[in-house]
Amino acid sequence: MTGPSSSEWSAGAPDDVEERLVSARYTTDDLEIDRSLRPKRLTEYLGQAKVKESLSVLIEAAAGRNEPLDHVLLSGPPGLGKTTLAGVIANELGVTMRTTSGPAIERPGDLAAILTNLEERDVLFIDEIHRLNRQVEEVLYPAMEDFVLDVVIGKGPAARSLRLDIPRFTLVGATTRTGLLTGPLRDRFGMSFRLDYYATEDLEAIVRRSAGILGVDIDDEGAAEIARRGRGTPRLANRLLKRVRDYAQVRHSGNITEDIAAEALAFFEVDHLGLDKMDVRILETLVTKFSGKPVGLGTLAASVGEEQDTLEDVYEPFLLQLGFIMRTPKGRQATPRAFEHLGLTPPPDTAAAPGLF
Ligand SMILES: Nc1ncnc2c1ncn2[C@@H]1O[C@H](COP(=O)(O)OP(=O)(O)OP(=O)(O)O)[C@@H](O)[C@H]1O
Ligand SMILES: [Mg+2]
Repeated sequence: MTGPSSSEWSAGAPDDVEERLVSARYTTDDLEIDRSLRPKRLTEYLGQAKVKESLSVLIEAAAGRNEPLDHVLLSGPPGLGKTTLAGVIANELGVTMRTTSGPAIERPGDLAAILTNLEERDVLFIDEIHRLNRQVEEVLYPAMEDFVLDVVIGKGPAARSLRLDIPRFTLVGATTRTGLLTGPLRDRFGMSFRLDYYATEDLEAIVRRSAGILGVDIDDEGAAEIARRGRGTPRLANRLLKRVRDYAQVRHSGNITEDIAAEALAFFEVDHLGLDKMDVRILETLVTKFSGKPVGLGTLAASVGEEQDTLEDVYEPFLLQLGFIMRTPKGRQATPRAFEHLGLTPPPDTAAAPGLF
């Protein structure tokens, strides 16, 4: 149904298995997982109760009036289910979903071609919508607002502008970075949902569902152990499940218990909070190299050997969520909890700055 965008592919495979294992980013490994495990209906989409509740009401109302659903913006860190939810929305509406992405739509004409080929009430899913270029965005405004396309015919003084009607559609936009969306574009979405990291119980239910589909024998404690280390991220929890399954098959008799899951995850160097080597490297850099003082994002990225964008999109949100780092006007700073996690004593001045939390 939906593949990764070209930019996600071109990011290239990380050279380190451990780092890839807990990165929330899409990898080729996820293709198989996605095909079999991606929920198709709202009832299979676990967790995110508030978002689901609102959506189900709005979907029912739109369907009852035989109107397209209002445009929906989905935001949140990678792997939390934005693409999945877009597909679920289309399925619940009983319409077709067309998928594209911000960087894939290069010229206004590309977008015009997509829009004119939609059927009434279809869902158009634009992934990474914050990466649309300005001219393309300008075409999108009247399309979203009035379902029209402004086309300019001819050049110079003879140029004429023509308004074309297009099918009334629903735009579902996804972004990991709402902050990068322009105001006018954001204003044209009738609703906006932010997906949050999943509670451990929800992730546990996702692991159990996935194990059922994959035919993996796992008990509740085993599922809980994987869920606890899944960083609140379904994509990651599913990937950990797959690896633990492999380990259980080779080193044990195939079934997954809490002990086997813990042993397998220790083997793959995923710690009890789901932190991997890169997370730990970031924390150690902040704590040791910069002695717990604020560090600019660029400096931090250079120190740990990771791209600034990746730090911001993939690693930082979870470390912020855990309360291990904070954003200060002067840069990123380790919190006392980060020191404690690394088994170190926080310096007195960081511990005495609770006003920043
Ligand atoms: N609510 C959910 N219930 C069950 N499984 C889920 C849920 N959300 C996501 N998943 C699983 O996690 C995988 C990743 O989700 P998805 O690809 O939709 O994330 P995304 O937010 O679009 O990530 P990205 O920002 O990288 O595009 C899906 O293939 C699906 O199997
Ligand atoms: Mg996606």
